Parts: sequence; C-alpha cells; structure tokens
Amino acid sequence: MCEFYVSRRLPILSEFTYPGTRPEFRGQGIATELWGAAIDDMKALGVQAIFLGTNHPVAFRLYRLLGFSKLPGTLTFVQALDGRSAEEFLVDWFRDAGPATVSPGDLDDKLPSYPLVVSPHDWQVLDANGGLMSTRYSLHHTFAGLYMKCANVGNDENGARFSARTDDGRVVGMSTARLDVDGSCAVDGFVQHRYRDLLNDLIEQAAAFGSSQGAGAVHAHLSREDNGKRRLFEGLGFREVGPAPDFVLDGLQLNQKREIEPISVPGLKMEKQV
Ligand SMILES: CC(C)(COP(=O)(O)OP(=O)(O)OC[C@H]1O[C@@H](n2cnc3c(N)ncnc32)[C@H](O)[C@@H]1OP(=O)(O)O)[C@@H](O)C(=O)NCCC(=O)NCCS
Repeated sequence: MCEFYVSRRLPILSEFTYPGTRPEFRGQGIATELWGAAIDDMKALGVQAIFLGTNHPVAFRLYRLLGFSKLPGTLTFVQALDGRSAEEFLVDWFRDAGPATVSPGDLDDKLPSYPLVVSPHDWQVLDANGGLMSTRYSLHHTFAGLYMKCANVGNDENGARFSARTDDGRVVGMSTARLDVDGSCAVDGFVQHRYRDLLNDLIEQAAAFGSSQGAGAVHAHLSREDNGKRRLFEGLGFREVGPAPDFVLDGLQLNQKREIEPISVPGLKMEKQV
C-alpha cells in the first residue's frame, strides 16, 4: 500500500505517506510498480510536486529510483513532476507567488507550508516557540513533525499561530504566540525573504493574541547571530532585555575524531510592552 494526500487548499501539492509491502512479498518489485503508478496518478490529477520524508535505507533508494531528490540537511524528499530539479522548484515556488496577507493559521496550511519550512533560510532560528531551525544551519531530524512544531503551539488556548498566504494558498511566512507562566507572551515567526515586509503583520497579530489574553509584554527569543531578524524586531519596537538560553545548531562542527557535532549559539531576549 501507499497513500497520497493532495492539499485541499493548494491541489498542486501532494504528500506521499504510509508506504509498505508485506514482509513475505518484499523484494519482488511491488513497491516500485505501485508507487510508480501512484505518481502517474498524481500527475494526471494536476499535482506539480510531491513531498515525503524517510530515514529508511531501502525506501530511500526506491524514492531515488522513482525520481525523488533529498533536500540537504533534511529527511525530506521532493519530486517536481515536470522534471525541474528540487532546487529549481523551490526557487520558482516563491518567485512565481503573488501578494500575501496574514490571517490565523489552520490545518490546511500543512502541505502548503512545506516549501517554506524546508527551503534554506538565512536566519538560524525560524521560530523559537516551535523549535524550528533553518536547514541552512541545522539538520532536521523529522519531516512530518516540521510543520507540526509550529502548529502545536496554536493547538490550545495558551497559544496561537498565524500564516502569511498568497491568494492561491502558498504559505510564505508563519508566526506563533505562546503564553508564559509569568503572564507574558512569547512571539516569534519568519518569512520567505521576498515577503519580509509581512513579518511586521505576523508578529503584530501574534502580539495582539498575547494582549487579548492579558499579557502586559511580549518577548522574543532570538539567536544573537541572526542580525537581520534582530533589526526587524527592533523596527517593531522590541528592545534587548538580556541573554536567553543558547540554541543548538546540529551538524555544524567536526570534532577531533571527525564526527559531526552540534554547536551552541547564544540567545538574546527582546521585549516590547503591549
Ligand atoms: C520499503 C518497502 C516498501 C520496499 O518494498 P518492496 O516491495 O520490497 O520494494 P521492491 O521490491 O520494489 O524493491 C525496491 C528496491 O529495493 C530493494 N530491496 C528491497 N528490499 C530490500 C532489502 N531488505 N535490502 C536491500 N534492498 C532491498 C530491491 O532489490 C529493489 O532494488 P532493485 O530495483 O535495485 O533491485 C518495504 O521494504 C517495506 O514495506 N518496509 C517496511 C515499511 C517501511 O519502512 N516503509 C518506508 C517508510 S518511509
């Protein structure tokens, strides 16, 4: 068996999941044939790109044979069904996107947010509330969990999340708000570079959630090395109030045994009264 999901909001994106052949039938070409036929079906439905995640060595090999490419620093594979490379597809995805607006996030954002969360971003920390890091600076150890890291922040009354979406439903930015036990509210978010003007709106809406819940101040936990993000937050009225816990960037350093190790980068806390 295998399953494909087609995005309800943006039916040109699909996700491949739950593949399996019963153990006694493995190695006979069943997965190759079945998955290949399923990809042809997706193409016929008008799907432009299929995403999936795996760390399984046999499946990994099969996906490559079927035309998927692994994205660097992730367990995510993607196939553009018109033959473009994964990188071309991701660059074109945002280049061809129109204007976007910010509104509350919902579950239909899941598939349409994959291109955003797997594209290398120049900020190390994309969303500290969700623990979402940029593939440019840190290895991703999950595929399906990537979007859920942020989605889970808005899953109860103590949090909220917001999406910047184009008219056709591409997610080009995300933000989250999480109420802290001390009565303040932690906000964070990120945007695709072309949409940086929307960070203002994303963070303002997250902050408005905090104040609507009685928070007197909102704060953000940034990497001290993410200067561009820090300047944008300063432009929104946030001021540095002190250090904050380090962030761990996985896969950035070789130790003396030439093993890859994580490194820590210092955090800083910025705050704004609301
Ligand atoms: C991954 C899985 C679906 C492959 O199914 P399958 O029907 O055996 O696949 P195929 O027979 O089409 O084989 C595909 C390729 O993998 C190879 N292969 C299959 N089982 C293998 C094994 N145990 N070790 C090494 N290679 C293997 C086949 O030889 C073939 O390669 P080839 O075309 O170069 O000969 C199956 O092993 C499975 O169900 N695994 C458990 C569930 C799982 O992990 N799914 C993937 C989650 S992302």
